[in-house]
Amino acid sequence: MNLTLATERLLLRSPLRGDAARLAGLLNNYAVASNLAHVKLPHTTKDTELWLPRLIASRAPEQSGFVIIMREAGVVGLVSFRRDGDATILGYWLGEEFWGRGIMSEAVTGALKWYFTHSKTDIVTSGVFHFNMASLAIQHKMGFVETGRSVVRCLARNADIEHIDTELTRQAFEDATK
Ligand SMILES: CC(C)(COP(=O)(O)OP(=O)(O)OC[C@H]1O[C@@H](n2cnc3c(N)ncnc32)[C@H](O)[C@@H]1OP(=O)(O)O)[C@@H](O)C(=O)NCCC(=O)NCCS
Repeated sequence: MNLTLATERLLLRSPLRGDAARLAGLLNNYAVASNLAHVKLPHTTKDTELWLPRLIASRAPEQSGFVIIMREAGVVGLVSFRRDGDATILGYWLGEEFWGRGIMSEAVTGALKWYFTHSKTDIVTSGVFHFNMASLAIQHKMGFVETGRSVVRCLARNADIEHIDTELTRQAFEDATK
């Protein structure tokens, strides 16, 4: 799948192999990786080349990703969907210097609109480590609700962290964003 979506300030485009070095450079930062489960530090271009092909090769909405592109800065982050049994899991991250400008709210809104247009599934799951209030605020704006708590391994912290589990229905997203 090779796609480019446009939002007000951003382009969301299917990842390319050539994005690996830039993505690794942004991810190789404790402030970013310590809020994600699966990113070990240090994170090199070779590490990124191990997980990126899954997003490049996929044709299914439930297993797709978009690099987030700002006109003035190029690739600044990633939003992705991952299949896990019957569920689709939403994940996202942004390079630290781009935080606090509403970029991820805009990117996640665009990606979810695309997802619900192209997938037959009606539920997306996600969640945040218990201290990640900025990410939880984004999810609440989209219509996600908390479904429980779990414990998730954070590779960057090398620790098990309390996780707020969340879920979004197609209807709740439509209600939250209309
Ligand atoms: C979390 C992250 C994606 C946020 O991206 P961003 O572009 O800065 O987010 P936005 O500006 O779109 O929205 C953040 C929202 O959180 C709110 N917020 C920020 N800090 C907050 C805090 N400490 N408590 C409550 N709300 C907070 C902001 O006010 C904003 O809400 P608003 O639009 O209603 O004002 C970014 O910081 C990041 O990539 N962090 C590292 C990786 C990560 O955490 N990924 C998500 C894993 S679940």
